[in-house]
Amino acid sequence: MAATVRQLRAEYGANPCALGTAVPRLSWHVESDQAGCAQRAYEIALNDRESDVEAATGVVGSADSVLVEWPFEPLRSRARRQIRVRVTTSTDDVSDWSDPLDIEVGLIDPSDWTAVPITATFADTPPERPVRFRRTFSVRSGLVRARLYASALGIYTVECNGASVGDDVLAPGWTSYHHRLRYQTLDVTSAIHEGDNALGVTVAEGWYRGRLGFRGGRREVYGTDVGPVAQLELHYDDGTIDVVATDRQWRAGLGPHIAASLYDGETYDARLVDPAWSTPDFDDRDWVEASERASVAHLMAAPTGPPVRRIETIRPVSIEASPGGATIVDFGQNISGRVRIRVGGPAGGQVVMRHAEVLEHGELGTRPLRGAAQTDTYVLAGDGVEIYEPTFTIHGFRYVEVDGWPGELTTDAINAVVCHSDMEPTGTFHSSHEGLDRLHENVRWSMRGNFVDLPTDCPQRDERLGWTGDIQVFAPTASFLYDSSGFLTSWLQDLADEQHALGTVPAYVPWIDLRFRVLPAAAWGDAAVVVPWVLYERFGDVDLLRRQYDSMCAWVDQIATIAGENHRWDTGFQFGDWLDPAAPPDDPGAARTDKTLVATAYHAHTARLLVRVADVLGRDADRTRYSQLADRIVEAFNAEFVTSTGRLASDAQTAYALALQFGLLATESQRVRAGSRLAQLVSQEGFCIGTGFVGTPLVCDALVDAGYVDEAYHLLLQERCPSWLYPVTMGATTVWERWDSMLPDGSINPGDMTSFNHYALGAVADFLHRVVAGLAPAEPGYRELLVHPRPGGGLTEAGTTLRTPYGDARVHWHRPGDRLVVDIVVPVGSTARVELPGCDPVEVGSGAHQFDCECRPAALDPPIPPRPSPFGDVDDAEG
Ligand code: BGC
Repeated sequence: MAATVRQLRAEYGANPCALGTAVPRLSWHVESDQAGCAQRAYEIALNDRESDVEAATGVVGSADSVLVEWPFEPLRSRARRQIRVRVTTSTDDVSDWSDPLDIEVGLIDPSDWTAVPITATFADTPPERPVRFRRTFSVRSGLVRARLYASALGIYTVECNGASVGDDVLAPGWTSYHHRLRYQTLDVTSAIHEGDNALGVTVAEGWYRGRLGFRGGRREVYGTDVGPVAQLELHYDDGTIDVVATDRQWRAGLGPHIAASLYDGETYDARLVDPAWSTPDFDDRDWVEASERASVAHLMAAPTGPPVRRIETIRPVSIEASPGGATIVDFGQNISGRVRIRVGGPAGGQVVMRHAEVLEHGELGTRPLRGAAQTDTYVLAGDGVEIYEPTFTIHGFRYVEVDGWPGELTTDAINAVVCHSDMEPTGTFHSSHEGLDRLHENVRWSMRGNFVDLPTDCPQRDERLGWTGDIQVFAPTASFLYDSSGFLTSWLQDLADEQHALGTVPAYVPWIDLRFRVLPAAAWGDAAVVVPWVLYERFGDVDLLRRQYDSMCAWVDQIATIAGENHRWDTGFQFGDWLDPAAPPDDPGAARTDKTLVATAYHAHTARLLVRVADVLGRDADRTRYSQLADRIVEAFNAEFVTSTGRLASDAQTAYALALQFGLLATESQRVRAGSRLAQLVSQEGFCIGTGFVGTPLVCDALVDAGYVDEAYHLLLQERCPSWLYPVTMGATTVWERWDSMLPDGSINPGDMTSFNHYALGAVADFLHRVVAGLAPAEPGYRELLVHPRPGGGLTEAGTTLRTPYGDARVHWHRPGDRLVVDIVVPVGSTARVELPGCDPVEVGSGAHQFDCECRPAALDPPIPPRPSPFGDVDDAEG
């Protein structure tokens, strides 16, 4: 069969009809059942949908199929084109033309925006109450197309002629609004008809004005006036365009939303529903005239990633009475989202729903939520079956306590609606170990719970911030599980903007001032360099490196200045190896590893990454400069923290893991010694976790690379607390913030920072993909795969699949007797380097391959040794 071109995408693939660039890059997959097939050339054809003019690149001799530069004239705002691709393979097969991809450019020039934000205030109305804005307009005959470009200061939903438009949740999402405000492009052609029409937009405070952050948080972070900014463009068959933009001709009023807060929840009075409010017939005489605000045209940007959507609906697994008599619904899974209810009862009745992640001794465990009430209240209209799902809030929860339900609450009357950024799932993992698979599933759920428009630390308490350290360690896992390229690219732009304005990379992005100083911190601010590098490695996005380059350099340069002549970063504030299990609950930064050691190691690491970035971008002078800097830092690290025999100043797992994985040790004998000391420490600590945020993502790799594969498996498969599998044994469905967020007796950890949905410690999933299953990127974008599984831990089988930028890859191994049988699939456009135990590495081309080699039988993999007691005896496993 000839090759086929599929999956044609523009830019990050999210919405090809809302592009924010004049020169969208194009990517595609080539599929073929011919082994070793590769693309030799491509041809791109363009059709101008307005004039029907065709253009084509002609045959371009190139194997590139990922983020290929736009080969035609730059496009203008509103341009619509159709693209097709065909390829010639290495065996001179010419594919058919691909299915067409329709692309459309958004409003990319600030001068395209005539709309200004509008707002309205109502006396005696609390600021938490959402406001409605409406406007009627008439449509002439000959309408061919209608586009609504919409956003808000606040969060918004749109209706047109009585029906809701679009399926985004919490639009426009959260960016650093003073730098960038994203707009949504909605095709409203079918919602509009000739004659009278109306648009209605409801706006809540959201991130713009609502309370954000911990320790009481702050309100009005971005401003005091909320309202929409929207521009409806009506295209007619005579080529004319009518524009209906937000201005003072819009009218404003109040609806059934009584209060809405991202943290606290929503109150909705269904008695105030008037479905006509967004139709032309509605009488808005007692509404007020909206007032105009200053233009935000210079801030408007098209999204690069997918919007937040309702992704999945979950039915309860049980509804039970708590010991204290409360009605508690259990959805069986900790999620981010909200509930949808079907309820009937007398008008004015109130259903109150409180959300929490866990139960503590049978009752709703709300203490970890701190100042986030996560409570929705629905006031019944009393007119039969009523359906309600809140609009302007989101909660982190598994359990909902329901109060005031009329009659008996049954499982089909209440569902959980999972909401998060609608990224394409790309990676899977499974193994013969049930607990490990559940851990992996928990990591995926924690990613889902926290990839809600920006990468947050947690989805439930009064925080939900884009902590840089958390995504710094989690980016490799995230980039495997989902296509997070457009999502993280967006966040990185905010990071660069905030960094530019604040003079350093803040600890969370977007930055909000919670009344402490913005200080650079290692492993957190290093996200500026690490995250773009990970995206380059995983998605092959060179242009992203170019865009982030100034930010990366500014970070490394700033730390170099702070470190000064001695090249040690030993001043200022550090989080260090945050949440080392040895740290007391009220002092999560108290770790075994010296903070200065962590900071200097990271400084060396990102300086070295920058050498590689400068190399990719051909910045020769920078490459020389940063490689000299990196050498100095590594020397300084060794002088201060490493003995000549390879012991470290902090005799702790994180210290060894950092020195080994960041390649900071000078000699082979030091590396051997450091590896053996690490293995010794891990064993002395009974193969329980001895690392925090910084060491945890590295420790298994450090053990395996040093030759301690069994030790890595012991650590990975340990079930005693602290360990990755302890939460699994406790029934966790997400990754916890603390190793012991829930104590063995079922009490919630007493610290005031106890989330049950934090992905950072789940960064080990990357190890499951790369090392346990054995699929890693050897070249950017997986142009070359490294297939290098390290079986152990008694596992009889493991496998992973990944939709790489080139196509679908797969590695699966199983261990019949003393054999290791490995099946791999390499997509067209990639090659794979295969390294298997006892065999010389081989290089293979695209297609399916099987390898069979000798291997220790799974049954002979050593079991986890029992934990030594502090008195030197050996405890029994349960002791
Ligand atoms: C957050 C973290 C974050 C940390 C930094 C916590 O409150 O939840 O995940 O990285 O603070 O100190």
